[in-house]
Amino acid sequence: MRAKIIGTGSYVPEKVITNYDLEKMVDTTDEWIRTRTGMVERRIASNNEAASDLAIMAAKRALKDADVKAKDIEMILLATATPDMLFPSTACIVQTALGIKGAAAFDISAACTGFIYALSITEEYIKSGKYKTILLITTELLTRYIDWTDRSTCILFGDGASAMVIQGTNSRDGGVISTHIHADGSYADFISVQGGGSRCVVSHESVDKKLHFMKMKGNETFKMAVKMMTATAREALSYNGFSVDDINLFIPHQANIRIINAVSKKLGIAPEKIYINIEKYGNTSAVSIPLALDEVVKGGRLSKGDLILMVAFGGGLTWGSALVRW
Ligand code: UT7
Repeated sequence: MRAKIIGTGSYVPEKVITNYDLEKMVDTTDEWIRTRTGMVERRIASNNEAASDLAIMAAKRALKDADVKAKDIEMILLATATPDMLFPSTACIVQTALGIKGAAAFDISAACTGFIYALSITEEYIKSGKYKTILLITTELLTRYIDWTDRSTCILFGDGASAMVIQGTNSRDGGVISTHIHADGSYADFISVQGGGSRCVVSHESVDKKLHFMKMKGNETFKMAVKMMTATAREALSYNGFSVDDINLFIPHQANIRIINAVSKKLGIAPEKIYINIEKYGNTSAVSIPLALDEVVKGGRLSKGDLILMVAFGGGLTWGSALVRW
C-alpha cells in the first residue's frame, strides 16, 4: 500500500505586511531584507483568527479538491508550533468544525519540519493498512510570538495553513516513495519560545522578560540548515537509488533564499527545478512546503510521474526529506 496525495488546499490571511511596513517599525530596509532573506512581503492573521481558523479554511479546500467527504476521513494529523491552546489539540478543534466524527485527531510538534514529520507518520499509518484516508494539515501563526522590536526575527515570519488528503493505493504509479526524519535536541536553544510551557508558565515576570517571544540564533541556525537539508536530500536520493537529475521539482522549506540557493548549489539542482515563493509569504514554518506544493499543483506545473523532492529544517533542531512521485 502506498500513500498518495489526492487533494491539496491552502489558506493565507488577507493582511499583507511589506518590507516597507517593517521599515517603519524597526531599524531595517527593504534592500537588507530582500538581499539577506529573499522576502518581500508576508501575511499576518487578524486578531480574531487562530491556528484552527486557518486550518479549517485550508482543509475545506483540500477536501473539495480531493472530492472526499468528511465522513471518509479516518485520521486528522495536524502539525503546528502555534496551536490554538496547550490542549485540547488544534486537530480536535478542526475535527468538530469540519464535522468529521470519531476519527483520530492529534497535533504533532516539529516546528518548520512539521510537514515532513506529519507526512512520514501518515505514510506509515497507510502502509500498515491501519487507515486508508488521512487529512494532513499544517497551520502556523508565528507572528503571534514575534517581538516586533527585534529586527533579526520580526522580518522573517508569516502566517498561513495548508492541507492535503492522503489516501492508500495499491497502484505503484504515484505516491510517497520515502520519508526520512531526524532531530538533535542538543541544539534546542537555537530557535525557541520558552514562556508558556510547564517549565516557565505565563506570569507577569515571564512577560516582563519577553519569554513569550521567539528567540533565534539566526546565523548558527542558518549554517545548520544548509548542512542538514543537504544531507537529508542526499539521503533521500541515495536510499532510492536516484540521482539529482531524476528530480523534476525541488521544494525546500522557505526560510531564507540564501539557504535555498546554498543547498541547491551543493546538491547540483538546476535553478529551473527549484520552487521558490518566499518573496510572497516569508517563512511560514511547517506550512511552507505544502503551501508551495498546492501552488504548483494549482498552477498546472506538475505532470503525472514527476519526481518531487521536499526538504525541511527547523526548531528542535529537526530536519527531514520526502520523495513523492506525482
Ligand atoms: O525556519 C527554520 C529556521 N530559521 C532559519 O533557518 C533562519 C536562519 N537564519 C537566517 O535566515 C539569517 O541568519 C538571518 C536572516 C536571520 C540573519 O542574516 P545573517 O546574514 O545571518 O545576519 P547576522 O545575524 O549575522 O547579522 C548581520 C548584521 C548584524 O549587524 P552587525 O552586528 O554586523 O552590525 C545584525 O544586527 O545584520 C544586522 N541585522 C539587520 N540589519 C538590518 C539583523 N537583522 C537585520 C535587519 N535589518 N532586519
